[in-house]
Amino acid sequence: MTEQQALAHIGVVGLAVMGSNLARNFASRGHTVAVYNRSYEKTALLVEEHGNEGSFLPAKSIEEFVASLERPRRAIIMVQAGAATDAVINQLADAMEPGDIIIDGGNALYTDTMRREREISAKGLHFVGAGISGGEEGALNGPSIMPGGPKESYESLGPLLESIAAVVDGVPCCTHIGADGAGHFVKMVHNGIEYADMQVIGEAYHLLRYAARMTPAEISDVFKEWNTGDLDSYLVEITAEVLAQVDAETGQPLIDVIVDSAGQKGTGRWTVKAALDLGIATTGIGEAVFARALSGARTQRTAAVGNLPAGTLTTLEALGVDRADFIEDVRRALYASKLVAYAQGFDEIKAGGVENNWELRPGDLATIWRGGCIIRAKFLNRIKEAYETDPELQSLLLDPYFKGEVANLVDSWRRVVVLSTQLGLPIPVFASSLSYYDSLRSERLPAALIQGQRDFFGAHTYERTDKPGHFHTLWSGDRTEVQTS
Ligand code: ATR
Repeated sequence: MTEQQALAHIGVVGLAVMGSNLARNFASRGHTVAVYNRSYEKTALLVEEHGNEGSFLPAKSIEEFVASLERPRRAIIMVQAGAATDAVINQLADAMEPGDIIIDGGNALYTDTMRREREISAKGLHFVGAGISGGEEGALNGPSIMPGGPKESYESLGPLLESIAAVVDGVPCCTHIGADGAGHFVKMVHNGIEYADMQVIGEAYHLLRYAARMTPAEISDVFKEWNTGDLDSYLVEITAEVLAQVDAETGQPLIDVIVDSAGQKGTGRWTVKAALDLGIATTGIGEAVFARALSGARTQRTAAVGNLPAGTLTTLEALGVDRADFIEDVRRALYASKLVAYAQGFDEIKAGGVENNWELRPGDLATIWRGGCIIRAKFLNRIKEAYETDPELQSLLLDPYFKGEVANLVDSWRRVVVLSTQLGLPIPVFASSLSYYDSLRSERLPAALIQGQRDFFGAHTYERTDKPGHFHTLWSGDRTEVQTS
């Protein structure tokens, strides 16, 4: 064997679950993979348990790891986000040579990725922040990959990443997203959309459970049925699985023994913070993040449960609502709210692209989210088509196909919001999405009044509907109007 043949095509640093699964994925596709972990036990375990799946080159030090890579060297970092990532980047950068590529495959904050790209490119190395979605299973069998960084590094890296990505209709779920932090930005918004998608599914479950009084097993069947139609998606599929699960210890539905406080690692929060900075109304994602926060406020909830007046509540029976009709209304409300969350997420992506000079292509993103990732869903095909037909689409909701869909959903959506309110059941994303939708289509918004108030207390001026310029009313004087610009 020549020395060249003995070198690895790619390396993975950090061999916890995601890293080792990614390394195994590369190896199983015929690539020789250099593997390194800070503590050698994880490296040894990977090779011991999975060495027969392909060609691994285990390294005991960063220097040995770097020496085992073919040039340009390509090393994917899969360690804890934050300080650990910075530490490993610096170790690799010290041991590498100009032209080599460092890839951060973790969930880094995109502004960190932009900073790292500046620092690393100053050393003549390439830095690629790559969003990788799909969890453990995706990393092993085919994730959706969103690499940013310089386009030229994608020429050497792209084929390798595309070879391990999920494939839908012959198209790999991996494409170059844009310069520096673009990949991590898009992955962040993907995760934000995932938060909203999970929350709307949660709200639908909650209504079927506590308004229609169905059992988790019955609701599981409903989700299985929904998964054969417009809502066909990984998240709806696993929802049916979770709801069907029975706790071995108590014999209860597992859902009933799981504490109702949702965790979060922060990407949803980042999405909302970025949206606030960009001035984009991502209300669905925002409400989903807040819903998790409120679910976690356990002390406060304990103080409030049974202790806050609910007013006069009713039931579906008292209102004479047919259960089958209600279930279909909930399905439609879920679909419409989900659509709003995606529309808002894509708005944020477009705004982030403009802000950072990334030429983001929403149609391409919908394409690579069709497989491998957590939000994979049949309707991403429609989103892909919508943005391919009109890349300048002002809102996904204005696409002719989705407009037609919402026309069929909106009456149900309104009924569900009204009924839930009458029953005292919380539906933060269903309700706020409908308000967003109504805001978007309203000819007049109360913002005119806000401008009047701002001008009254702070002389912030306002624009007029009938002529250009900025105006101020002399509120504390004779209340005549002056033009200020
Ligand atoms: P997961 O969530 O998949 O378990 P994680 O917590 O994001 O993974 O990252 C854990 C990985 O980061 C491990 O490979 C860990 O190395 P050890 O096995 O030696 O603990 C690695 N890691 C954490 N801090 C690190 C650091 N400062 N330098 C190098 N690697 C580090």
